[in-house]
Amino acid sequence: MENGSISMRDVDRWVRRDGSHVSGAIFSSREIYEIESETVFLKCWQFVGVESEIREPGDFVRSRMGQQDVIVTRSKDRQIHVLANICRHRGSTLCRVDRGNSSRLTCTYHGWSYGLDGELKGVPMEQKLGWKIDKSKLGLAKAAKVETFRGLIFATFDPDAEPLDDFLGDARFYLETMLGRRDQEMILIGGPHKWELEANWKTPAENMTGDFYHVNASHASAMALNPGLGQAIEMMTTDEVARFVTTPEGHALNTFLMPEGLPSDLYLPVEPRWVETPGVGDYYRGIQPEAEERLGRLRSRLRMNTCTIFPNLSILPGASCLRLTLPKGPDRSESWCWVLGYEDMPDEVRQYTFTAHLDVFGPDGLLEPDDAENWANVVAGLAGPVASNMDFYTGLGMGTEKTDPELPGLHAHPMSESGHRAFYRRWRQQVAAAAGA
Ligand code: FES
Ligand SMILES: [Fe+2]
Repeated sequence: MENGSISMRDVDRWVRRDGSHVSGAIFSSREIYEIESETVFLKCWQFVGVESEIREPGDFVRSRMGQQDVIVTRSKDRQIHVLANICRHRGSTLCRVDRGNSSRLTCTYHGWSYGLDGELKGVPMEQKLGWKIDKSKLGLAKAAKVETFRGLIFATFDPDAEPLDDFLGDARFYLETMLGRRDQEMILIGGPHKWELEANWKTPAENMTGDFYHVNASHASAMALNPGLGQAIEMMTTDEVARFVTTPEGHALNTFLMPEGLPSDLYLPVEPRWVETPGVGDYYRGIQPEAEERLGRLRSRLRMNTCTIFPNLSILPGASCLRLTLPKGPDRSESWCWVLGYEDMPDEVRQYTFTAHLDVFGPDGLLEPDDAENWANVVAGLAGPVASNMDFYTGLGMGTEKTDPELPGLHAHPMSESGHRAFYRRWRQQVAAAAGA
């Protein structure tokens, strides 16, 4: 990298073409962080929230696209807008609360106010003092495109971005399997709760593409406490049941394709402990016939584990949650976690789903602290000057990828790092744009 401009030689050094090695620099360098801020987070579609958070006109929530603070709104005409949270007068943060309902967003500095569509509406003392300001030119910066998929809101700042459906590609099939089990869309029932991580954003994102390989070493104490996890690990080692799926768009997920003929509870898409809980199990059992009818038998046998939609949306369907890993510098990120359920959930099931999710994947849950510590250790390990010139290995299971006659994407061995490779190949493709590729 010379004088801030990059070449394809740099890109080749950062991520090998096949995704099998990545440079330590991509996790620690401030320059590379700035490049990916533009080439990934100003370009790609990103999840910004759940439609049920802004059901009524005037509803708004704050969210983030990369490091950019945004406001997701529903205007009077029921359109969804994603607005940069920056006042056009002097650049102050416009909205300082997490959510609300209002006809205007008013800046606390000099009082300019904006409609929920981002148009500048009010400039204090304008009429009294006779100033002429062309308000039509001073609206908020907006995401170029906003689309929804099964109740999830996505946005991009790139006016030339492909339609969301094309961006999601084969991942749509699996997202539909997770989110389209019922006629009704999933809604937010808890969160988003937020915590800081000492991690480069890519490390949690790659982990949730599918990293069965870390479970035995990282989560040994959790497995000792929960023999069910050990059984799941057994299943993970057979590639008939456990599938690591990648798509050419750089999305990746891992799922069990449960064999036919098992006890019916084993097909339910939530953690076995939930199914065994009186009241809760019955609720989730009650959804299964509708899911089978909508999705068909084959898809209703898919029990998803984790998934990452490039760049930073991860999904943990067994815990009914969505997660964004938001960058905050090369060595810091934030985890934002939305817990999902259905409108007709009885209160006790809602409460159970939320707290059971926290018990495992909350910041002090059964598994999360193990991972947070590992990811912080990666930051520490890569901090020195030697590491930034080293390559790190993401090549496990190279060549095991194959197609499946019935399920889309490429399916690799469950202990492979095919998801990591797909993720980094897509990252490479995005940053290569800065080298003119
Ligand atoms: S900075 Fe917002 S009104 Fe002046
Ligand atoms: Fe983990």
